[in-house]
Amino acid sequence: MPVIAPSILAADFANLEREVKMINESQADWIHVDVMDGVFVPNISFGIPVIEAIKRHATKPLDVHLMIVQPERYVEAFHKAGAEVLTVHLEASTHLHRTVQHIKSLGMKAGVAINPHTGVSLLKDIIADIDLVCMMSVNPGFGGQKFIENTYDKVAELKSLIAIKESKALIEIDGGVNQNNAKPLLMAGADVLVAGNFVFSSENPKEVIARLKAI
Ligand code: DX5
Ligand code: ZN
Repeated sequence: MPVIAPSILAADFANLEREVKMINESQADWIHVDVMDGVFVPNISFGIPVIEAIKRHATKPLDVHLMIVQPERYVEAFHKAGAEVLTVHLEASTHLHRTVQHIKSLGMKAGVAINPHTGVSLLKDIIADIDLVCMMSVNPGFGGQKFIENTYDKVAELKSLIAIKESKALIEIDGGVNQNNAKPLLMAGADVLVAGNFVFSSENPKEVIARLKAI
């Protein structure tokens, strides 16, 4: 069964408590939390106080996706705010190995995200050290974008790298996930599906989450 992580970026920010409780009551496994700094990506989302507020109501782990430059500066802060999974971008952290070790030393799961143009082979020397690869299937920065089809090939390539390196990393797909691509993604080897607009723009988000979970 896939891990389902609804992305809070697509939620109604004026009703965050209600939205988090909906996720609590649903079959979702994690809550995906997108942090954007307006530098690494062209958009600004929210920061630590909002994550603390989400954490106060959440009964499921927070899967925090940092789309910020020099994420190493904030590893402790996001740990304190309640992140269980902390993902940094390969393109944003110069000393990625050190950042990953720091994340793990605080008891969090360490994730590395790669942009659509970033080759899977660049994960070769970090894959054995990490718990998750967040494979971007859109260019990061906004919800509601169109899924990039080349992702399927990248998932297959990553799956074989994970096997060769005997890594335990989960493959998370982030961006444009919907009813049509969820199944082929899982068949290609994905373990975790992030879904923002597909869940929150529906009239019955809990049912959409249940459908994804049952694929
Ligand atoms: C994009 C974010 C995604 C986004 C996914 O920069 O990292 O997590 O919330 O939203 P959808 O599912 O609407 O593409
Ligand atoms: Zn994300």
